[in-house]
Order: sequence, then structure tokens, then C-alpha cells
Amino acid sequence: MAPAQQDPSPDQQINALRDQLRHHEHLYYVLDSPVIDDFAYDALMNQLKALEAAHPGLITPDSPTQRVGGKPKDGFLKVPHSRPMLSLDNAYNADELRAWADRVVAGLAHGETARYVCELKLDGLSLALQYGPGEKAAAHTAVLLSGITRGDGSIGEDVTSNVRTIRSIPLHINAKALAQAGLPQTFEVRGEVVLPQKAFEKMNEERVAAGMAPAANPRNAAAGTIRTLEPNIVAQRRLEFFAYFVLRSDENAGDSFIPRQSEALAALRSAGFLVNQHATTVSTIDDVLAFIDTAEKLRGTLPYEIDGVVIKVDAIAQQRRLGFTGKAPRWAIAYKFPARAGITQLEDVLFQVGRTGKVTPVAALTPVFIGGTTVSRATLHNADEIARLGVRIGDFVSVERGGDVIPKITEVVEDATHPRGTQEIIFPISCPVCSTLLVKQEGEVDWRCINDSCPARLRGELLFWSARSVMNIEGLGKSMVAQLLGQSASLLGDDNEEDTTAEAVTAEGAPILFREPIIRSIADLYDRAKLNREKLIALDRIGEKTADALLAQIDRSKEAGLARVLMGLGIRFVGERTAQLLAQHFGSLDALIAASAEDLTAVNEVGPRVAEAIVEFFAIEKNGQLVADLKRLGVNTVAERKVIGTALTGLTFVLTGTLPTLTREAAKARIEAEGGKVSGAVSKKTDYLVAGEEAGSKLDKATQLGVKVLDEPALLALLAGEAPPAS
Ligand code: IVH
Repeated sequence: MAPAQQDPSPDQQINALRDQLRHHEHLYYVLDSPVIDDFAYDALMNQLKALEAAHPGLITPDSPTQRVGGKPKDGFLKVPHSRPMLSLDNAYNADELRAWADRVVAGLAHGETARYVCELKLDGLSLALQYGPGEKAAAHTAVLLSGITRGDGSIGEDVTSNVRTIRSIPLHINAKALAQAGLPQTFEVRGEVVLPQKAFEKMNEERVAAGMAPAANPRNAAAGTIRTLEPNIVAQRRLEFFAYFVLRSDENAGDSFIPRQSEALAALRSAGFLVNQHATTVSTIDDVLAFIDTAEKLRGTLPYEIDGVVIKVDAIAQQRRLGFTGKAPRWAIAYKFPARAGITQLEDVLFQVGRTGKVTPVAALTPVFIGGTTVSRATLHNADEIARLGVRIGDFVSVERGGDVIPKITEVVEDATHPRGTQEIIFPISCPVCSTLLVKQEGEVDWRCINDSCPARLRGELLFWSARSVMNIEGLGKSMVAQLLGQSASLLGDDNEEDTTAEAVTAEGAPILFREPIIRSIADLYDRAKLNREKLIALDRIGEKTADALLAQIDRSKEAGLARVLMGLGIRFVGERTAQLLAQHFGSLDALIAASAEDLTAVNEVGPRVAEAIVEFFAIEKNGQLVADLKRLGVNTVAERKVIGTALTGLTFVLTGTLPTLTREAAKARIEAEGGKVSGAVSKKTDYLVAGEEAGSKLDKATQLGVKVLDEPALLALLAGEAPPAS
């Protein structure tokens, strides 16, 4: 007979769960080959959270639950680097690269040759991570102690709380992995933090949606993100960290202990770090040049930005002999790719009036082919930028496409073949659409149209309202909105342009209002006395089918849910996530409107600036009227409503213990509203146990049967559709 098996202690259970989670994080975030889905991962995480909540004494800083922890209170502490973080000298062509290699060989012993490690030059910011024995961690393991930005190279900022949220950075490395990698318990890793292109685009969409200026490029966005004082926000952004150096930081400081850079990369990889897969070791400069060629071709296909190739002498002993110049190592060099730029002529400047009234000058260019795409528009940002460039219409300009979304003009080109233009760019003093005098607030660079009824702004508001991530009204695109507003669609740019928030009108010609508008506000979309079948059919090129489909889409959007309505109102700083958090917290638009700034800051992630913007928004009469009209016309501003059957269909829940905010009834109602079932007892058929304070035997039973355990936040996330249901 087998000996009676003892139940694992909470400590053992916690450690087992942590090991599992670390393993899956490594598979997902470093190796990019997960073996379980997000849902299963979340369930493990929730199990760990529940256990840790029940045994808070067992929580350690290297637990996978501790990625988003405390906030830095008064900004970031300045701390010195263990050794300076140097930058690199640059080479811009093959000759400069060969000259560098000659210097390397000259610096070595006679007849000695060098091998070179070629790495992609990731366009982010460098970071130093300190690892060492953790206070509560098991013996011979290394835990992340701190993360420091490069700063001026000697002194950086301690951004540990944000660094912890980066999933490809291990918080904990176990003894076996350390031994396999040949790493001591105390060491320092350096590498590059990057914001992948997709995350960059998403971040900018959210910023624009919240009325903020988009970040110029992924590097700036990454730098801004790592210095954000809200670890929560950092966690959402999905930064990645690529490790490329390891230093020993206990005894022998200054000496690298792994004999080759190529081996250091391998060691980092085996210790669980994300190491860029494209690094290669070669023996000749011709091979380096071949790698550069390949990298340039690769550039457009990578999910992150690179701006060159870094070439390092492989042998650390050789590195040591070569040493440093003033600020850069002699044993490495950065080969910089030429900027993706072209020269073309500025034909005209258009002034776009956005949803917020901001007027943006946009350069209309003679189309030019740059780095794989045809560019015919570039942003001029604002009046200051036009002055800085000193650009005139007719000028030839240099246009650059960086990691930026929108190409930008970097300078005016002036030579025999590129004569200067003649026509001065005149920034309008009044709105090109409604003629209201433009206003610039103190300390701001942007001119704005402050007419709340400006057709260009209304157009922007309507397009934003109908956007897929907002109320998702199919068929309410640029030309339809223009028609509804009585504007000529042809004057408003073509529908293929990516811009959905602004209107292009030339400086000279405001669009001609050639018909009485059908609607004058967002609420009018829902008012069938104003917008109906007859009026739609009377418009150009709109048949019965199109009219009916549009009306059906508009009606359907009434049930889009509070979060989307909130987002659609276009309150400054209230993007998708903030809107969701507010909706979850307040449950109704009325409750939100009644909230004071203080009440608002009680919501996770809502700071005083956001709270103030919300209060201000609802204090404006026009906005109050809009909300009242929307409600009167049947737009649901009460609870999140989704088509029943999507989120929790087929799932059985059991509730136990006291949840922090939801009553048992409320939790049950919300689960059922999403198509889930709530039963009284835990069995094999139970999918989730929702456990609160003082959960008793049901929690034990669930753990025994391997039923996934959720806490209230996890349940709310599930209800909000954040975690996809298991297939
Ligand atoms: S090695 C002392 N390797 O480029 C050597 N740097 O222009 C320091 N960078 O400050 C850096 N990818 O931020 C190295 N594979 C790579 C890199 C890389 C990007 C950045 C790093 C550095 C800058 C120098």
C-alpha cells in the first residue's frame, strides 16, 4: 500500500505555483512559445493570489504576483552605476567600419586576429539590472534587486517598480538555472528596453483617443513609459527587455567573468533572459558587412525598431586590452543605418481641425517613395515648428520616416537644383472651417478653435463616437458623417486616409455648407425625428439598404455599454482603460457625474489631473445636455451590457466568502448576465470558485479538485471580457 500522502503545505503549494508561473512566463514572454493559453495562466495566477492573500506572510518580492507593486512616491531616486554605462562610437559606411577594424587589429598583439559579435542595434533605452540573493528567497537563487536607467552614464534613475512589470525580465532565477548559466548569485545585466511597434501604435491610439498628443516614436514612448510613476500603466504597455551584457558585481568588479561576448549572450539566454535571436559571431569584416546587409533587409519585418548593428570584439581578454577612449569602448562600434529619408517639394499646407479644436498644419507633398511606401503627407506639428524650419510653400524639403507613424519634415533643402519656394505659409488666425478666432492658451503651443459648435469639431466627435473601439457604428465613416452634417464629402479628403479625428481643409477654402445639416450633435444620431430613413434616402448615393443598415447599426450601439459611452464623450485623458475602470467603479453615468474629484481619485489609476478633467467636462452645460439627450433617446448609460452568451457562456461558478465590494447577489447577477451559471456546491463540473474573505471548505474542495479560484478583481476582469474564455 502506498503511504498516506500528506497534503502539501501552503508554503509548498505557493512555491509550486510560482515555479509553474515562472516557467509559463518564460515560455510566453521570452521564448514566444506558450503551451497554455492566457486563461489557464490567469487561473494559475489567481490561485497563487488567493493563497498569498490567505497567507500574506509568505509573499516575497520575487513572486509572479508582485510585478505591479508599490508606486515610487516622490519620483525616482538618482543612483550611481556600478560602472559607467558608456555609449558607442558610430560608423556610417563600410570604410568607417573597416577603419575601426584596422584600429582593433592594431591594438592587439602582432598576428592576433579577432572575432566579432554582430548584434542588432535596438532602438530603445539602456537599462542596468542588479541581481542578488533575496531576503526571503531560497538559498542560491538570485532575485531582481533593482533596475536603473542609463541617465548620464554615471548616475541613473532607480525605476525598479516599473522594471518589475516587464514580463521578459525574470524576477527570480533559481539555483539550477544560475549554475547552468555559469552565473554567480550576484551580478548585473545590461540591455535595451524597447516598445514593440504594435504596443506603440496601441499606446498612441489611446493617447489620441484621450485627447493627448501621440508619442513621436517607439524610443520616446519607451523612455516616457519607463519613467511613468504608475507601474500599472507600465504593465499595460508591454515593454520588452533584450539583455546584451552581463557584469559580475561582487568581487572582481570590472572584470567580466565569462570569456566571450558570444558566451555571455548564451549564458543570459540560459538564465532566462530574452536575448535577441539575430546575434551572430563572425571572423571577418566582410562577414560583418554581410550581416549588416541582412539586418537592413530584416529591419522592416521586425516587430520592434532597430537603427543599426552593434559590432563587438568577442574575446573579453581582447576587449580589456583595447580599453576605452574618453566615452566609448574601442572594442565595439555602432554601425548606423542611413535614415529612411527622401527629398520632395512642399506643394501646399492644409490645416486640420481636430475633435478637440486643435489646428494642425499638414504638409501636402509631391509624392515620394521612401523606405517602401509613398509619402504625400507629413506633419508640421504646429506654428512653432513651421517657424523653426523656416519652410515656405514651393520649398524642397527633406522628409524622414523613422519609427514614427507620420513622416516628418526635417529640413529645407537649398541648392542649385532645389531653389527656395516663394510663398510664405500663413497660419490662419481664425478657424478654417467656422471662422471663429483661434485661441492659444498660455504655455501651450497649439492654436485651437474654441467654438463648441464648429462643424469640423463636430465631425471629429462623430467620427470618434462611431469608431470601432468606441461605439462601433459600421457605415458611419467620413463621407457619411460629411453628408449628415450637410458638408460636401469631396472637400473633406478621401475616405482612405487613415486620419479619423481631423478634417483637412485648405487655408483658403472653408468647406461650403451646401445643405441644411441633418444632425447637429451626437445625440441627434439617435433622434428619429431628425435622422430617419426618408432623410437618409434623400441624400446622395444612399439607397434604402444602406439607410436601413446604418439606422440598425446606430440603434444597436445604444447597448454598447457604459465604458464605451464614456470613452465616446471624448473627455480629456479618458481613454479605453480609464473608461472601463470608471464604468466598473461607478456602474452608471449618473453616479459618475455625481462624483466629486475626490470620489474619482478613489478609482484605481485615476489621478487628480484625470479627475479634474472629468469634473470640468460635466460642468459644461453643453455636455450635460448631451448626456441628458443620450439618455432620453435610449442610449444605455447604466451597466455594461454585452450580448449574452459571449463572456461566460457554459461556465459554472461557485461563490464563497465575502467579496470586497460585490454582494453575493450582485456577483450572481453579473455572472448570469454574461451567460454564466452559479451553483451552490463545488464539484468537478465547477469551472471557477470565486473566493472572498474567510472562504472555508469550498476553497479547500476547489483546491483539491484543481478548480480554478478567482478573487473579485479577477472575476470583474472576466466579466469585462478581459480574459478570453478557454476554448
Ligand atoms: S552595447 C559600452 N549592444 O545603443 C557598450 N548597445 O549607441 C554599450 N544599443 O547606449 C552598449 N542595441 O542603448 C549595445 N546590442 C546592443 C545595443 C546597444 C542598442 C544602444 C544602447 C547604447 C547605444 C549606443
